[in-house]
Amino acid sequence: AGSLGAAAAQSGRYFGTAVAASKLGNSTYSTILDREFNMITPENEMKWDTTEPSRGSFNFGPADQIVSHAAAHGQKMRGHTLVWYQQLPGWVSGLSASDLQSAMDNHITQEMTHFKGRIYAWDVVNEAFADGGSGQHRSSPFQDKLGNGFIEHAFRTARSADPAAKLCYNDYNIENWTDAKTQGVYAMVKDFTSRGVPIDCVGFQSHFGTGGPPASFQTTLSNFAALGVDVQITELDIAQASATNYASTVNACVHVSRCTGITVWGIRDSDSWRSGDNPLLFDGNGNPKSAYSSVLNAL
Ligand code: XIL
Repeated sequence: AGSLGAAAAQSGRYFGTAVAASKLGNSTYSTILDREFNMITPENEMKWDTTEPSRGSFNFGPADQIVSHAAAHGQKMRGHTLVWYQQLPGWVSGLSASDLQSAMDNHITQEMTHFKGRIYAWDVVNEAFADGGSGQHRSSPFQDKLGNGFIEHAFRTARSADPAAKLCYNDYNIENWTDAKTQGVYAMVKDFTSRGVPIDCVGFQSHFGTGGPPASFQTTLSNFAALGVDVQITELDIAQASATNYASTVNACVHVSRCTGITVWGIRDSDSWRSGDNPLLFDGNGNPKSAYSSVLNAL
């Protein structure tokens, strides 16, 4: 196949990238985007600080630009993200518990309703688990005021708002099977599926260092999939982008039938939030790096 998207489609998967609305007018950027990728995640435009900067006042303009671009070019969309403790406007953390609950419900409902029918999957809750050995939720305005049940509540609200969208939990450092954080998220998904709490997918961000993915990554993907959810690699970037590390990551997904797609977190190294690590598939001039052909061959 002549592109990442077409290669992934041969096995029914997608290949996506994070996109910034402000770069769509750059022709080098949009040429690569539309040639290579068939799934788009807005890098920042669907986050709470952009979409509801003050209570009840919604701004979907930047995200709408990306959604329109995707519709015009046959790309699917991942919605990112509804409930996250970062890029959260200050007014949210100042609310009382009961106001926070209604603000969270309203935010999920308004945003999902606005984009209804145009989003394949939503990252309903992002990064709710703590780093380190606790395996518990991290402290956040949601956790601290609403308690452990906030994640379940968010997923139930999301299902009512758009019953056709896939609902995902998304996090980082949950790729290594034996880590306490991985086990904490696994226990939550197992509990949700056993009690009928609506959850369809788990996103593994996969922001890797120079060592690449952990050796257990395929095991982790396969164990989560065995709970009855789809799994996806959602924000892939790898410090120094070794061809071998990219191939191992893609192989981990391709060997798990319910691993339905891979998204890299940006197009050119110069687009990356970790641009000092040169972690992506295209260099600053938009030329494919050795990791690009390695990924293409592994798909
Ligand atoms: C990052 C964006 O890439 C940056 O532009 C922004 O300044 C901060 O957020 N986990 C996530 C993503 O879920 O939303 C983050 O994106 C990277 C880490």
